[in-house]
Amino acid sequence: MKASACGKIILFGEHSVVYGQPAIAVPVSGLRIYANISKGKGKIYDPPMGEVIDMADRKNPLAMAAWLAMEKAGKAGADFDIRISGDIPPYSGLGSGAAVCVAIMRAVGMWAGREFSPEELAGMSYETEKVFHGNPSGIDNTVVSYEEPVYFVRGKPIEMLRIGKPFTIVIGDTGVKGSTKEMVAHVGKLLKESPDKYNAIMGHMGEIANSAREIIEGDSPAKLGPLMDENQELLRELGVSHKSLERLIAAAKQAGALGAKLAGGGGGGNMIALANDAMPVEAALLNAGAKRVFTTMVGK
Ligand code: MEV
Repeated sequence: MKASACGKIILFGEHSVVYGQPAIAVPVSGLRIYANISKGKGKIYDPPMGEVIDMADRKNPLAMAAWLAMEKAGKAGADFDIRISGDIPPYSGLGSGAAVCVAIMRAVGMWAGREFSPEELAGMSYETEKVFHGNPSGIDNTVVSYEEPVYFVRGKPIEMLRIGKPFTIVIGDTGVKGSTKEMVAHVGKLLKESPDKYNAIMGHMGEIANSAREIIEGDSPAKLGPLMDENQELLRELGVSHKSLERLIAAAKQAGALGAKLAGGGGGGNMIALANDAMPVEAALLNAGAKRVFTTMVGK
């Protein structure tokens, strides 16, 4: 039996969302993690991370995902093995941590004859996100569990986002590993050292996310471009960008992208570009050293 979960991109508001500002994230249904479950002895094989995890190791987030799902389904005893595969690289800002846990939970649910609701999955995967990230806002596990575009404010009821007119996003992978946990800790330190300065940046990011929401729900998504550039400028000020990201962002813009920014925790990982015409942007990204490009139509 095989279950899966999608990847995600944060269009606006990564980092500021940790501090209560609104953010917008969309699923990338074409990029997925798979969890294959079969009779076994309680092992999780995770080739993307090069790990074999014993489900008795409850501190491991993947083992924890399986246990949480077993407990919710009222199933005792891990009489199965799980094999992970898929196309969302770890440490890339595309939500691989949330996706692997949600895929495992769905697989365990199938094994136990129980289909979890998105709400149940989001609740359980928030627990595993804490192990991955330390201080997660909850946006990654929410968008991955619901597989719907979301307008997300930490601690508030989830609001699904209506996409007025579909738009094209090109995703470029720097191939550089970015640790969300480290980046979130770095921003936390800045906020402690200079609260006035960095709270103002967070507030500004929140305003951008609110303006973006209106545009996304309207019918002129091209207007999102300048907002992406503005958001990226603020992410630079937080020190979460990276030269590999800047190189791809510049290449995308030169090739006609309407706006571009990093997506997710930063420090490497993926960038996104809004494009009228995806092909020249994809070519420019590959030319500038992107390890992989992927184009997704948001709202289709
Ligand atoms: C990571 O995808 C997004 C961050 O805002 C962290 C979080 O919201 O938990 C950087």
